[in-house]
Amino acid sequence: MDGITLRRAPLLCTLLLWAFQGCRGTVTVKVPPYVNVVKDETATLPCTYSGKMPSNLVISWHAYHEGSKKRIAFKFGEEIKIDEAFNLGKRATMGADLSLTITKVQPSDELTYVCEATAGADGYKDASTYLTVFYAPEAPKLEKPTDRAISVISKESSEIGTCVATNVLPQPRLIWFKNDQPIPEVKDKDKDTYMVPIVVKEPSGLYTLRNTLYMKPVKEDKNSVFFCKVEYRTPQNTTETKRSNTITINLNYPSEKTTFTFLNTSPIKEGDKVEMKCETDGNPQPDFEFSKDGKDINGEKGLLTLESVNRTNSGEYVCKGLDYDAGDKDLTAKLNVVVHYMDPVVVKPLGSQTVSLGGKMEWKCDVNASDKHTLHWKKGSKTLSEDGNLFLDNISYDEAGEYICEGAVPSVPGLKVSASVNLSVEGKPIIAEPAIGEVSKQGEQVTLKCVAHGEPKPQFTWVPSAKESVAIEGNMIVSTIVLNATADIMKNGVNCTVSNKFGKETKTLTVAIMDDRAIKGSAEVLLSGNPVLKSADMQQGGSSAVVVAVVVCVLLLLLLVGLIYCLNKRTKLPCSKKDKKDMALGDVNNDIVVEMKTGKTEQDGLLNKKAAEK
Ligand SMILES: *[C@@H]1O[C@H](CO)[C@@H](O)[C@H](O)[C@H]1NC(C)=O
Ligand SMILES: *[C@@H]1O[C@H](CO)[C@@H](O)[C@H](O)[C@H]1NC(C)=O
Ligand SMILES: *[C@@H]1O[C@H](CO)[C@@H](O)[C@H](O)[C@H]1NC(C)=O
Ligand SMILES: *[C@@H]1O[C@H](CO)[C@@H](O)[C@H](O)[C@H]1NC(C)=O
Ligand SMILES: *[C@@H]1O[C@H](CO)[C@@H](O)[C@H](O)[C@H]1NC(C)=O
Ligand SMILES: *[C@@H]1O[C@H](CO)[C@@H](O)[C@H](O)[C@H]1NC(C)=O
Ligand SMILES: *[C@@H]1O[C@H](CO)[C@@H](O)[C@H](O)[C@H]1NC(C)=O
Repeated sequence: MDGITLRRAPLLCTLLLWAFQGCRGTVTVKVPPYVNVVKDETATLPCTYSGKMPSNLVISWHAYHEGSKKRIAFKFGEEIKIDEAFNLGKRATMGADLSLTITKVQPSDELTYVCEATAGADGYKDASTYLTVFYAPEAPKLEKPTDRAISVISKESSEIGTCVATNVLPQPRLIWFKNDQPIPEVKDKDKDTYMVPIVVKEPSGLYTLRNTLYMKPVKEDKNSVFFCKVEYRTPQNTTETKRSNTITINLNYPSEKTTFTFLNTSPIKEGDKVEMKCETDGNPQPDFEFSKDGKDINGEKGLLTLESVNRTNSGEYVCKGLDYDAGDKDLTAKLNVVVHYMDPVVVKPLGSQTVSLGGKMEWKCDVNASDKHTLHWKKGSKTLSEDGNLFLDNISYDEAGEYICEGAVPSVPGLKVSASVNLSVEGKPIIAEPAIGEVSKQGEQVTLKCVAHGEPKPQFTWVPSAKESVAIEGNMIVSTIVLNATADIMKNGVNCTVSNKFGKETKTLTVAIMDDRAIKGSAEVLLSGNPVLKSADMQQGGSSAVVVAVVVCVLLLLLLVGLIYCLNKRTKLPCSKKDKKDMALGDVNNDIVVEMKTGKTEQDGLLNKKAAEK
């Protein structure tokens, strides 16, 4: 053949085909090949007819049901008839547009539907469409056969679980996963891992699928997580999945090694409860045997408890796991127990000691312990020595009391022992610094306190005397009297004398009157006598000191003058002729100041006090 003939061949064929169809008539019937619908919803199957419209034209819908073609509905002219075929019944209707509509679609409606046009001699045409019914499943359920353990040494594959998906259409697929990895589908029961699927078509027409997984798990599977997924189609022709719950397996596997550890978190000391835990890496835990120095000790399962240990409990403890599946693996483990201890502290000399005031005392303290230790001498919260030796010199009454030698092992929290000794100091009594009492004005009751140290406890003598009450406060003895602040007492004060077999001491308690805090300062200046005397005292300090002193004195004088002026104005009392001190004591104010003095003169005492205040 030549080239032209070859190129013309397809065109010729098309023309022939057209002519042939023309002979049969130009009728066409069109339907979509597939229609998808969700169960219980309405399906519409369109059909388009084109061509001649002879008067005997019949358009009808049929379905292939149980092996034969059954008519459902037809249109003849303008007339539409429904056959109420098989179980479609009245749910099927045919529209004027030739479409077939089925309401409340059931799984059994999933069939091949044919739209057919017949016009006698003019011809016959049909086209078929497949109706697919969909129903999405719930998430599948993963069930465990029992909680019975599976052993890794089992010869057979064991049932891991069954995945169940119910009420699905079309038939879905079940996929197993282990640790998020899909397990390939295997149905061969001779393999280690395989699945046994069961597909049930329910009377409703929906599918229920069960799929059981069998495996020979290995030790690593003790932590494996299993789940399954159902993979199903949707009416939109996509694939979706739903995931089940997860399960793990209760796996038994033999022990390979043993560990033996303390449950105690800090170092062990005498008197502690010691707990030791023995475990293997197998499951379940085997029985254990405990021993020390070849002697058996009773434990509870994997736990060895020693109540209130002492140093003789130190040593190596052995634990042995009794796992007969372990083969020749060595399941023994050892644990070394060290019980720390500290003996009682030994103090020399022992017992209570008495020393004279101003005397000295020496103690030695020693202890034996299992590890490096410290020895601290303490009085109250104060640490006096850190080497076990305590030396006291020129002992005062304040140093009387309880001394504690405390031994500790710093590496073992709570390991401490201590011993205490008492020191008493005897000697002549001493009156402590004065305390101040307050009363409103002369003639009132004034409370005076005389506070003293002394061992043996001193006797108090008051001049002038009054009813005294004696109390012990700490290591001090306090005598308290209440008397009338007479003019004589205001002038000469009250003498307190303390005495015991070692001697005596007297101090004079002065009673003064003050107004308020501002005037208290002025009153003290008056009491201290002549301010000029003070500046003379200062002259030894150098020229700058003199200048400062003069300025201070001038200021004080000004204050004094101002004060006297004010008082004169207020009380209308003449002050120029009166003794300054008397004025201060008698008229200045309402407060009485109580001051206590040593045996020195009053003026000296006050001057010293002023100097101290500087
Ligand atoms: C659905 O999708 C698959 C592939 O994704 C395709 O082969 C099939 O023809 C599609 N069916 C319909 C009805 O669209
Ligand atoms: C130490 O403990 C053992 C028992 O564990 C006991 O028999 C022994 O008497 C104890 N020793 C001392 C010094 O307490
Ligand atoms: C410490 O132990 C030694 C030897 O047992 C003993 O001689 C010594 O007296 C002990 N010392 C104390 C303070 O217990
Ligand atoms: C002893 O102590 C007293 C008061 O604490 C003190 O006045 C005196 O100087 C001390 N004597 C010696 C020798 O240290
Ligand atoms: C020391 O004195 C206190 C209080 O007076 C007393 O409780 C303690 O037992 C005494 N200690 C000694 C070692 O005598
Ligand atoms: C104090 O003594 C004076 C003078 O003797 C007297 O008037 C006054 O009532 C006495 N006061 C008291 C509280 O006893
Ligand atoms: C108080 O003691 C001093 C000196 O110790 C003495 O001068 C004075 O007279 C005594 N006062 C009384 C009221 O006994």
